[in-house]
Amino acid sequence: MNILEQIKQELPWLDGNTVYDLTRGKPSSEQLDITENYYSKLTTPYEMDGIDLRNYGNPEGLPSARELGSKILKTNFDETFALDNSSLTLMHQIISCALFLGFKNSKLNAESKIICPVPGYDRHFKLLENFGVEMLTVPFQKDGPDLNAVKDLLKNESNIHGIVCVPRHSNPTGHTYSDNNVEQLFELLVPHKENFSIFWDNAYACHDIEVTIQQTPADQIAKRFGLENNLFQVGSTSKITLAGSGISFISSSMDNLSKFIDFRNAITPGPNKMNQGIHVKYFELVSIEQQMEKLKKIIKPKFELVDDILKPLKDEGCCTYNKPTGGYFYSIDATTSNADEIVQTCSQLGLKLLPMGSCFPYGADPDNSNIRLAPTFPDLASLERCVNIFKNVLKYLN
Ligand SMILES: Cc1ncc(COP(=O)(O)O)c(C=O)c1O
Repeated sequence: MNILEQIKQELPWLDGNTVYDLTRGKPSSEQLDITENYYSKLTTPYEMDGIDLRNYGNPEGLPSARELGSKILKTNFDETFALDNSSLTLMHQIISCALFLGFKNSKLNAESKIICPVPGYDRHFKLLENFGVEMLTVPFQKDGPDLNAVKDLLKNESNIHGIVCVPRHSNPTGHTYSDNNVEQLFELLVPHKENFSIFWDNAYACHDIEVTIQQTPADQIAKRFGLENNLFQVGSTSKITLAGSGISFISSSMDNLSKFIDFRNAITPGPNKMNQGIHVKYFELVSIEQQMEKLKKIIKPKFELVDDILKPLKDEGCCTYNKPTGGYFYSIDATTSNADEIVQTCSQLGLKLLPMGSCFPYGADPDNSNIRLAPTFPDLASLERCVNIFKNVLKYLN
């Protein structure tokens, strides 16, 4: 009997038609229902902060929306702008601006190389690849990027002009950077500050599912090292309220923000202030903390379920992973270095996973071991089936 037949015998509910999907970090309908429940009670505002929301203008965003962004990112109001629906778009625009116009201390060019802690967010890597920026990888240490590896790259490579970081519940590994790690990282960057961009994507800024983790705001640390012109923080409400229909935020020095808005003024006559207004009103009904508590009640049992099912295999040494303390993902490493085979076999059984290597620049996982699971979207019953397929494949291919 081949592996597929053996697994089908173990999982008699596999019908060959149902598609199981753990590819993308999407909120479940249950999460979105929480938002809809309050959202549907709101009436569209047409005026806020003395501003006519129906018209062009205010390229920096509504003051009340900027206030919301500074609360989520823990940044200063003056240095936080509220823009449209996607922080990934902001990353794209920041990189375009750094490449084509240049910020004071952040100027990318055709020779630029960017440091990427791995495994990381696949869309960051695709974005950088699309711009032709070379990516150099570093692994993680327990509390952030491996600083020795960063140091070696800075010493041995020329034209390193940036690093891309997800400092809290990193996608997909779940790493949260310690203050100590950030301080040492920033200290290493000081000699390079004439031209260095620190892309700080805080997509999971308030997404703790265990305890609330304390982190000193990155801009405070950056200012201590004189790196305020090098730091670009982004975030959004995508994983807080409505994915793709919320507000994104950027925080940087006033100098950089002014350059960025000059650049953006040629892209758009202004952000969607009606949407910003609705979001501001939303958080008058429910605080960010209350919203996150409600989401946690849905997400936490899913994360526990994944661990309950996979822990026996981890204990047997078939795979390694850290149980996430927040965020949206599990990052699993197959100890037998056959991630490609595992992903393909799961697919033959109806379970979709990201292609092997997706969490590495250029799709190149040197160990052929990493697999990202995104457990938030399916309901619990479906998730249990997904993870059981995965577990059996992992077990049989070990
Ligand atoms: C690290 C990271 N950044 C950005 C995003 C996308 O955020 P947005 O919807 O604001 O573009 C995601 C979504 O999965 C993410 O994991």
